[in-house]
Order: sequence, then structure tokens, then C-alpha cells
Amino acid sequence: MNSPTGTEPTLYDKSVSGRTGVDLPALDVPAASLPDGLRRHDNGLPELSQLDVMRHYLRLSQRNFGVDSGFYPLGSCTMKYNPKTSEAMARLDGFAHSHPLQDPDTVQANLGLMYRLQEWLTEIGGFAAVSLQPAAGAHGELTGLLMMRAYHRARGDEGRTQILIPDSAHGTNPASTSMAGYTVLQIPSDDRGNIDLEAVRAACDGSVAGIMLTNPNTLGLFEEQIDEVTELVHGCGGLVYGDGANMNALTGIIRPTELGIDIMHYNLHKTFSTPHGGGGPGSGPVAVSQALAEYLPGPIVAVDPTSETEDPEGSPRYRLVDPSRSIGRVCTFHGNFAMLVRAYTYIRMHGADGLRNNALHAVLNANYLRVKLGNTYPVPYDRVTMHEFVCQGRVEGSSVRALDISKRLIDYGFHPPTNYFPLIVSEALMIEPTETESRETLDAFVDALERIAVEAVDDPTLLETAPHSTPVGRLDEVQAARRLVLCQRPVAQPATEAERPAP
Ligand SMILES: Cc1ncc(COP(=O)(O)O)c(C=O)c1O
Repeated sequence: MNSPTGTEPTLYDKSVSGRTGVDLPALDVPAASLPDGLRRHDNGLPELSQLDVMRHYLRLSQRNFGVDSGFYPLGSCTMKYNPKTSEAMARLDGFAHSHPLQDPDTVQANLGLMYRLQEWLTEIGGFAAVSLQPAAGAHGELTGLLMMRAYHRARGDEGRTQILIPDSAHGTNPASTSMAGYTVLQIPSDDRGNIDLEAVRAACDGSVAGIMLTNPNTLGLFEEQIDEVTELVHGCGGLVYGDGANMNALTGIIRPTELGIDIMHYNLHKTFSTPHGGGGPGSGPVAVSQALAEYLPGPIVAVDPTSETEDPEGSPRYRLVDPSRSIGRVCTFHGNFAMLVRAYTYIRMHGADGLRNNALHAVLNANYLRVKLGNTYPVPYDRVTMHEFVCQGRVEGSSVRALDISKRLIDYGFHPPTNYFPLIVSEALMIEPTETESRETLDAFVDALERIAVEAVDDPTLLETAPHSTPVGRLDEVQAARRLVLCQRPVAQPATEAERPAP
């Protein structure tokens, strides 16, 4: 049998001929047989009781590490607690059971929720308009760049082919750029961790369509010269794309448009605490300044003007509209509606003051950890940080690496921080505690990392062979990702090429 772990008994191992988990009532209609060819007889499904199946899947689910089970300081990912009220709202019948093809008149409450969320995201960033269509942050990036291209083309400005991207950027930035048909011009960072202003100045000419800037950047640092950078890019006719992944540090404190940003995506899962999921379904609404509003992907929700004139006191009627020069749809139907319900609930629950407090506490928690851990692990850009910080997984007197430290953290019950990103810091450990963690949790994390630093000197093998407390030990992570085995099969059925373990 092939089991995901290699040693774990599969449902096939537990199968006992004749055992069943269902007790069907006696047939009260004439028996009929399926036409030939419709039913397979060789599928060899395991035969199990209901309890066998229940225990098997429950045990597997308990092996997952999630933010509900422990501290998850995965930098850049903002793994904060997802409030259960948001989950309950997303499951309300009216939201969960409505169909995207329903007549808009029958789903006015849903459209009203989307309209208000558009309005709030517009206001939080200081933008003019928002589309809720993109299904992830990276999808928002691609959408923003396609709008940037449409904007330049509409002005007959065809010669702009390059996007400036700092070397600290998240990998999705260059990937989205190249998908949108632009070339990347990488800009180095300076010794304070900012994008190098002189390099930006030298790059700014008529070939620049725009810049993609993350602020705070992926070192967790506020871009100290962002005003000058955006001025230079605007000065040469380019646009400024803000990667809004790190808005959890700025919400309620400053509006990105005040920093010169023209287009920005929000990652609803990072800032407004919708679940991450394995790559989706997420939501990455894209927000723009007035000059770009007509290019937004549609449909977006608008108030039907006749409804306001008909009954100025009553609730408005909503309809779906396509902006005049829309780049078109980027997602089926209305985006991932259930995520929108959760983000709406989160914003409504917290209110303006609550959102601002979250940002302040996220920054406070990150700085608390930076100061506490800075004596044990080197912090290469050691200045006041925003919502996350990057240290190095090195210990004086030991040859252990960031990966070893991270794997050992699992034995202490913590999810590892992000490893080896951003690329400009060797042995990077990128730590983002988020505002939802208590001081006790942060102290326990510091304590574990300090103990690991001692172990690194006394018994480095303990770290190099970690983790020791998990169902599987250290994996070959490349093979584990490339040859993921998600299927259990009986011996008679060989695994497909993709599932076959690497030689
Ligand atoms: C800085 C940054 N930009 C972009 C992204 C991409 O966002 P998403 O995962 O929603 O596609 C991430 C995700 O971690 C990020 O951290």
C-alpha cells in the first residue's frame, strides 16, 4: 500500500472483507441493474466500519498544525486568528446558499454587502474605487499590472516595457510582471533595507511603466524614502503599484494613496483575517486612484440611481456594472463571495478604532520579539520594524542553519517562521507574530528559541535531525512538494507517474 507517510496504516490496511459502515433499509422497489460499463468492479474500495473511518480521518485532521492549534509566526503570511463569528456569518443560509446566477433583485443583501465592502476598502486606502474580483494577492497584482498596461496604451504611450521591482520583493511581484507582458528591472536595497533611491533615479526613464513596491517591505521595514521614490516614478510617467500584502501594519494609520500609490491589492486573508486555505480560494481586491477607475475589472456593485430618487429614505437598490474601459473579468462570477462576507464581518466587528489598534499591536508584538531575540540571533537591519522582522538563523559557535532551527521549533510546539526569504538576507528567519498573540505566547516562543540556541552549540545533531516529535521526520521538501502523494490505493492499482515516490 502507499500511504502518505510510508509507515502509516492506510484505510486499505484496515479493510476487512464484508465489513461495512452503512446499514441500508430493505429494498422497497424492484431491483434494477446498471447498464453495462457504468459500474466498475475493479476499484477494490476498502471495507470498513463507520468508526474506523471516523477515527482515521479525525486522527489525520489532528496532525494539521493551524493557527487554532498553536503560534504560527510565518512572516509575510500574517497568520492571525480567524474569528469564528466571521465563519458563522459566511455560513448563514442567505449567503451560503445563494447562486451567482440569481437575478440581482433576489440577492440585494449580498450585493449590498459587496458594495459596503468596496466602500470600506476604498476609504481605508484613500482610493477612488475597488474591484472585489481577484481571487488572491498575486491575482490582484496581475490585475493591477494589466490595468497599468491598459492605462498607458489608452494614452498612446506604447513604449513603456519595464517594471521596477526591489530585490527584497515577494516572488509573486516579478512573476505577475512577466505574466502581464512586462520585463523586470531589479533595484537593489540600500544598507538600511530601503529600496536604493539613487538606483531608482538612474532607472527612471520613458521605458518605465511603473514600480511595484511593498510597504512596509518584506524586511518588515517602512520604506523611508517612499515619497521621493513615488515622485521619481511619477516624474518619468510611470505608475506606482503598491503590494498591499503588509497593510496589517498600516491600516488606520496611513492611507497608501498619501504615499503616492496609484494601484494596490489587499490580501483579505492577511489584513482582514479570512482563512488562507491551501493557495485559495482567497481574495485580493484591487483598489485604484481616480485616473484608473474606468479600467477596473467588472462587474462591480453600484447603487442603482433610480432607487435613490424613488425613495430617498428607503434602502438603495444595487446592480452590477462594468467600468467604461474595463480590462474585463478576471474571475468567475463575483469573486470569492464567502471571503467577502468574512472580511466584511471582520471590518464591521472591529470598526475604525479596532482596525487601527490591530495594526499598532501587530507592530508592537513584532518589535517586542525583535528586541528580545536580537541578542541571540543577528538582526541584519536592526531598526524599529513594522509588523514583522527578519533575523538570521545562525548561532555563534555552531554550524546549524536556519532550517535546523526551524525544524527544532516544531518539537517545541511552534510553527516555524518563514525561512530563506527575503532572498537578500542569508539564513533568513522572517518572524511575524501578528496582533492576536499574547505576551505569554511571545515569551514562550523566545524561551524556545533561546533554548534551541544553547542546543545548537551543545548538541547540533539534535537540530540537524529535527523534528523528532512529528509523525514524519525531516522531509526532502523539494520532492515532497513536487511528488505530493494525496491518494491511497490498493496494491493492485499502481500509483500514477505523478504519485510515484522519487527513486
Ligand atoms: C509581500 C507579498 N506579496 C504578495 C503575496 C501574494 O499574495 P497571495 O498569497 O494572496 O497570492 C504575498 C503572500 O504571502 C506576500 O507576502
